[in-house]
Amino acid sequence: MTMILVTGGAGYIGSHACVALLAAGEDVVVFDNFSNSSPIALQRVQQICGKSLIAVEGDIRDERAIEQVLTQYNCTAVMHFAGLKSVQDSVAEPLEYYDQNVIGSHRLLRAMQRSGVKTMVFSSSATVYGTPKFLPYTEDHPLNPVNPYGRTKLIIEDMLRDQYVSDPSWGIAILRYFNPVGAHESGLIGEDPRGVPNNLVPFVAQVAIGRRERLNIWGADYDTPDGTGVRDYIHVMDLALGHLSALKALDSPKCFSVNLGTGTGSSVLEVVRAFEKACGSTIPYDIKSRRPGDIDAYYAATETASRLMGWTAARSLEAMCADHWRWQSNNPNGYC
Ligand code: NAD
Ligand code: UFG
Repeated sequence: MTMILVTGGAGYIGSHACVALLAAGEDVVVFDNFSNSSPIALQRVQQICGKSLIAVEGDIRDERAIEQVLTQYNCTAVMHFAGLKSVQDSVAEPLEYYDQNVIGSHRLLRAMQRSGVKTMVFSSSATVYGTPKFLPYTEDHPLNPVNPYGRTKLIIEDMLRDQYVSDPSWGIAILRYFNPVGAHESGLIGEDPRGVPNNLVPFVAQVAIGRRERLNIWGADYDTPDGTGVRDYIHVMDLALGHLSALKALDSPKCFSVNLGTGTGSSVLEVVRAFEKACGSTIPYDIKSRRPGDIDAYYAATETASRLMGWTAARSLEAMCADHWRWQSNNPNGYC
């Protein structure tokens, strides 16, 4: 049994990772400033697992506070989810993104170095690849992010790789997520976006529950089978289990980058149909012009995750929609 520091553990993905960690017998201390989450999520995590965790409110840019937590609780590893994640906001407020994501991660790493904690699982994103030169994206696809959010992720990845070169006794797993959706099967935790959701599935779920009238489909003239954008949606619990596999793979020092996706692309219309089946009602939509910055299609090569961590995603698009809907219908207004 070890103590894992989970930054951003109250957020969408972090809360599901906490469930996976607690269920696997690990102890957890969450470090979160709740800027985009609710402490209720952590109560629900404990309810699901029948086990308690420690919650510390703080900002990852507060190096001393992190160092204190790492030392006080004898942490052996860090799962680092904390940060800002909206592509659109990163274009409008790049300095805030570089501050919270890059400087925050730098301070966290320095606190780890000073405390002698050398194991890190990091939340990166498929957005580091940029415009596809080929598909599926393999991990050696060129890294050329096209927005400030993606550039902050790439800088953090580079910082982690440089740290490993300077001290190969570190263990670092860089996990490039594709499109996380769904919720824990209990329906107790899930994604709770503030304001109008940017992402497809949360928006569809809010239409289904009656919080929004119609879905706008951003473009039906893409070079895809039905003309709508294709993405690699992955169930958030598969993603959470991928973090456990990464942690196990770091039982000896190493540094690796892996995609966490299913390897299968689904179009916007396929997602809408799967969600309609899950919720039992029709999702009204309008076809609109393309959203700036969107690309036709992308999906993951999954062989590296399977080879290095023995992990593959197991849950179907139907399960993603059913679980997302259970969360949304049980909690129409999220954690409020
Ligand atoms: P989220 O916003 O739900 O969770 C992030 C958590 O970090 C929140 O609880 C927030 O309060 C906290 N936080 C933010 N800034 C902080 C700071 N400075 N100090 C302490 N806590 C802070 O996001 P998520 O969807 O769970 O994403 C988690 C991570 O995964 C992020 O790093 C994100 O960039 C990455 N990621 C997410 C997606 C996605 O589609 N959700 C895709 C790829 C990568
Ligand atoms: N879409 C719509 N209507 C909506 C929302 C989305 O038609 O209201 C479409 C998009 O045009 C796209 C698809 O649904 O074709 C998926 O869009 P999302 O916004 O859900 O996801 P993205 O692939 O655009 O972006 C996500 C994360 C980013 C991350 C990126 C790469 O939101 O943070 O994946 O990992 F950078």
